[in-house]
Amino acid sequence: MAETHFISIDAPPRAGQSVQHEGKNYTTIKEGLAHILVPHDTPTSLDPNLSKEDTQKQQVFYNPIQQFNRDLSVLAIKTFGEDSILRKQEKHEQQQKKADKRKKRPAQKGGPREEAAPIDGVAANKRKLDDTEAIADAEDSAAKRRKSVQDGADTVMSGVEDTGSAATEAEKSTEQATWRPPFKILDALSATGLRALRYANEIPFATSVTANDMSEKATQSIALNVKHNKLESKIQAHTGNAIAYMYSFCDKKGYDVIDLDPYGTAAPFIDSAIQAINDDGLLCVTCTDSAIFASHGYLEKTFSLYGGLPLTGDSCHEGGLRLILHAIAQSAGRYGMAIEPLLSLSIDYYIRVFVRVRKSPNDVKFLAGKTMLVYHCDAGCGAWKTQFLARHREQKAKNNSTFYKHGFSHGPSADEHCEHCGFKTHLSGPMYGGPLHNPEFIKRVLAQLKSADRETYPTMDRMEGMLHTALEEITFGAEDGAGKGKLPEQLDPLIPKADPAVLDHHPFFTTTSSLSRVVHCSAPPTAAVRGALRHAGFRVTMSHCRPGSIKTDASWRDVWHIMLEWVRQKAPLKNPLKQTSAGHAIMSKSSAHQKASTGQEQKEPASVAAEADTAAAPGQNDATGSTEPHGSEENGDLAGTKGGSIDGPSYLGVQFGVQFDERLGKDQDRGKYVRYQVAPRENWGPMSRAK
Ligand SMILES: C[S@@+](CC[C@H](N)C(=O)[O-])C[C@H]1O[C@@H](n2cnc3c(N)ncnc32)[C@H](O)[C@@H]1O
Ligand SMILES: [Zn+2]
Repeated sequence: MAETHFISIDAPPRAGQSVQHEGKNYTTIKEGLAHILVPHDTPTSLDPNLSKEDTQKQQVFYNPIQQFNRDLSVLAIKTFGEDSILRKQEKHEQQQKKADKRKKRPAQKGGPREEAAPIDGVAANKRKLDDTEAIADAEDSAAKRRKSVQDGADTVMSGVEDTGSAATEAEKSTEQATWRPPFKILDALSATGLRALRYANEIPFATSVTANDMSEKATQSIALNVKHNKLESKIQAHTGNAIAYMYSFCDKKGYDVIDLDPYGTAAPFIDSAIQAINDDGLLCVTCTDSAIFASHGYLEKTFSLYGGLPLTGDSCHEGGLRLILHAIAQSAGRYGMAIEPLLSLSIDYYIRVFVRVRKSPNDVKFLAGKTMLVYHCDAGCGAWKTQFLARHREQKAKNNSTFYKHGFSHGPSADEHCEHCGFKTHLSGPMYGGPLHNPEFIKRVLAQLKSADRETYPTMDRMEGMLHTALEEITFGAEDGAGKGKLPEQLDPLIPKADPAVLDHHPFFTTTSSLSRVVHCSAPPTAAVRGALRHAGFRVTMSHCRPGSIKTDASWRDVWHIMLEWVRQKAPLKNPLKQTSAGHAIMSKSSAHQKASTGQEQKEPASVAAEADTAAAPGQNDATGSTEPHGSEENGDLAGTKGGSIDGPSYLGVQFGVQFDERLGKDQDRGKYVRYQVAPRENWGPMSRAK
């Protein structure tokens, strides 16, 4: 066997090389633009048949399965950073201009120096940003700005407009040469430092990265890797408990980006991260404890960690996303910081959220009105109804300006029994009820992807698929470019701020298998139900959380009306439903059944199965699956009128023509994107803590 040739840690790093350092042998692994050293015998492949022991070892030193998380994080932070750098530059420019003016004033006026008013370039800029038209106007300069941000601060400063004399120019060019907008990143739970190395290497404008871990072994390995990558000037390794470290910033703040990537839950780290994050900073949070955030098994634990109770069923992972956002929003709110989720993803066994955090006591006022409880018919038909804890309503002031009034919500929005099947509902939440993503952010990450190198970002197909699905999910596919490949190559780096008052009126989703399980019929193709919803005028899309999901602005009444039509038109029940079942109760609310039971009409095939009287389902509220009554301004229509009324049976007063138009319901981009990727290995969830 050929002898292994070992080289020094100081040699240029290359994938696959063998390195000897202080008597130990390592192999270099490359991920993104970073190289890390792993003990010589560490398995590095994604081989699905890797032994448990090797898998464990791999996860401690290098976990290839998390590359997707890291690739996405690099691009998300870069996208966020381009916005952040630009804001800082604009603020700096304004400060410079003011300082220049102050310098000139005493000479011109011959009087005492005037005190400068506090400068808030960002606030001024924010007004501009809030106006979407301003964003459109800025498109022209987008390419210029983007390039300058990507090139780094020095070049950016050369884009400063001409304002004065030759002397000022000279001063300015010195200033330009020295000033760089700081962009500081904390990898709070860094292990081998891989994320820190990637951020330092792949985000050119990052000025400093701290790689912290409480394990000394880990920080030794970070130091080794930093040396191997020759990044000593950019990355500082720190040994300590991340919580204590981040709390130490409570008086001064310090980081533009904080990445929390623990084993299990990130909940214990959130409050301290809020102390250390700068105003207008980005929190990137991973939680891998799906048994807690997405299951009923330990609901008391879920509550203690996230401040809310979990949701079960198809949407349990979306429930988990909303719980973690709730926990972040609550912590931030205590300090007058408001959160804006830029991207919230359920990926494989974990969740990952990217949240912009801003000092904005005014925006925090919307939090109660954006926090919701869910009444979930988890043991019956699966329907849900949400209730926001408070209400914020837009009012007109005397001078015609608008403001919001914050008030209490009315009593329960749902009956204790499900209005469809009569089963008892259970409470989930409180959880975050605002939008999960900022579509403008997603578009910018997608634009980043267009110029990304496939070798550096091998997970780019999956990223593209998931981002497109998330964009469609939040816009119901209405955005230009979502799935149509029409996104412009370059977008203005500034990410418009989302309206803090906006609620997500249509959270969660269902699947045809869950629906058909309730009524005991064969499941319709997903495209057929999507087509029926679209034909009736509803919006429908899919959730990134689950393949085959149906996310719609239709109410549960509409959905059950469609399902009963499926049974009537296409899949008559073979066996009678049990009288006590949820499906039986739903069937018995069909007008066909009611007419049949009063002897007015021949029984429909579907209602043959539903032979007993209506089950107790005293729900009196509109069950829209959202806080809005059916026929809200978003639907622009009333229940029963969508798609035109027909003579056929109706369900709880809903009576529109149902056409299972599979062509209409088909995913036009099917096959174009990797929307849902299968786990590369069975049982590949998080391993236990590193020893
Ligand atoms: C999942 S690993 C991090 C993986 C890394 N982010 C990556 O992408 O390669 C979690 C790390 O957090 C560290 N850790 C756990 N609790 C900590 C705490 N309270 N403070 C600092 N580090 C902690 C562990 O030692 C471990 O190295
Ligand atoms: Zn029900």
